[in-house]
Amino acid sequence: MRRMAADAVTMDKIVALCKRRGLIFPASEIYGGIANTYDYGHYGVLLKRNVIDAWWQAMIGDRTDIVALDSAIIQHPRTWEASGHLAGFTDPLVDCKTCGQRFRADHLGELACGRKPSKHPGETPECDLTEAREFNLMFETTIGPVKEAGATVYLRPETAQGIFLDFKTVLGFARKKPPFGIAQVGKSFRNEITPGNFVFRTLEFEQMEMEFFVPPDKAQQWHEHWLKERLDWYVRLGIRPDYLKLRPHDADELSHYSSATSDVEYLYPIGWSELEGIANRGDFDLTQHAKFSGEKLEYFDTASGERYVPHVVEPAAGVGRTMLAALCDAYDEDEIGGEQRTVLKLHPRLAPIKVAVLPLVRKDGQPELAREVFDSLRGQLQAEYDEGGTIGRRYRRQDEIGTPYCVTIDHQSLEDRTVTVRDRDTLEQDRVPIDDLPATLGARLASPWESPKLAAA
Ligand code: GAP
Repeated sequence: MRRMAADAVTMDKIVALCKRRGLIFPASEIYGGIANTYDYGHYGVLLKRNVIDAWWQAMIGDRTDIVALDSAIIQHPRTWEASGHLAGFTDPLVDCKTCGQRFRADHLGELACGRKPSKHPGETPECDLTEAREFNLMFETTIGPVKEAGATVYLRPETAQGIFLDFKTVLGFARKKPPFGIAQVGKSFRNEITPGNFVFRTLEFEQMEMEFFVPPDKAQQWHEHWLKERLDWYVRLGIRPDYLKLRPHDADELSHYSSATSDVEYLYPIGWSELEGIANRGDFDLTQHAKFSGEKLEYFDTASGERYVPHVVEPAAGVGRTMLAALCDAYDEDEIGGEQRTVLKLHPRLAPIKVAVLPLVRKDGQPELAREVFDSLRGQLQAEYDEGGTIGRRYRRQDEIGTPYCVTIDHQSLEDRTVTVRDRDTLEQDRVPIDDLPATLGARLASPWESPKLAAA
């Protein structure tokens, strides 16, 4: 087996692989698609679920100081006045009267002119750009059957605000006191104008956000704690540490609510870009919602008699960007027997399918035995049965979706009830008794909370 160059991955190859294997593909394709919007197919859904499960595991399973929440997407419109999104969640836009396209005024240097893609907007004498104007990123809709008489509401642009609105309620039943966190996963919506780079920037996307409420004098310490925790989480998912970094925001980049933010960045094929933001939001949100709602949003410590508005440290991650980083990081090409192979060396925890069961040929009792093996595994592991096509093609297919192990049933299996287990990464095969298979595979797959890449280093 010959390995190709380490930088074999490009965004085009990831997009093509995701489409070819049905992980992620453009939405509304029969109507020509819709800007920056994608659908997730079977393997994409399984991969996404594994990302979200790993996040919940880190937030809820591995700790005792965080509780879960699932708040509404459409909240009271005053939410967005208080949070500052109505006034300040904007991008500066310019229109070109010549080509009719719209551009982010602060990204002109990275964008392509509508008529001469080799130039940036405004670079040719024909470009006729308007003055920049602020454009709010929130999607607006109406509650009620009559648009004009209804109440204007917004699809949430971040899940965080639902957590702040429920702070008092959760505090009442969660039996927690600061430092403690409230975690939630769900869809957010932003009317993004900038080209998306596949699922990196989409109109609707899933966020994994946790608001950690702390005594004010402990905020900086907890910010540092979460920077480390979150960076480690990506490493434990198998992402190469040298493709990850923390980047503190400059003062002019900070959001209106933040006194300090660092991004976890990944070296995507498009360059270093944000995977997750970890912000010290201070008491901005609770103070604002207290002001706008008239509710007291504070913590009263009955033991010390102390009363204060907790400060908030917020790790805010995107599911799509985590998937994209995992896919780019896992993508590899090598050569086996003169044939090129594309393989996703995904961490077993993330792999959509953990084991594929394949009869070598579709006769001589092999499919029946393979079905028996498949049935013994599928309750325990995400398994797949496949008997269509040559064995080589079936291996290639599993390699491309990142299946760590293929179990093959051959003529010897019918004689001695052993099967071969093929390792996706090393391509080594060994024979294992069918009765030992669940335990053997379970043990090989159960490294999960450490990175095989780190372990091998
Ligand atoms: N509550 C803070 C907040 O929303 P953010 O940096 O705007 O902060 C957090 O978003 C994460 O959500 C980002 O790091 C990214 O992973 C993801 N995200 C934001 N906008 C996105 C978009 N348009 N498409 C895909 N993911 C997005």
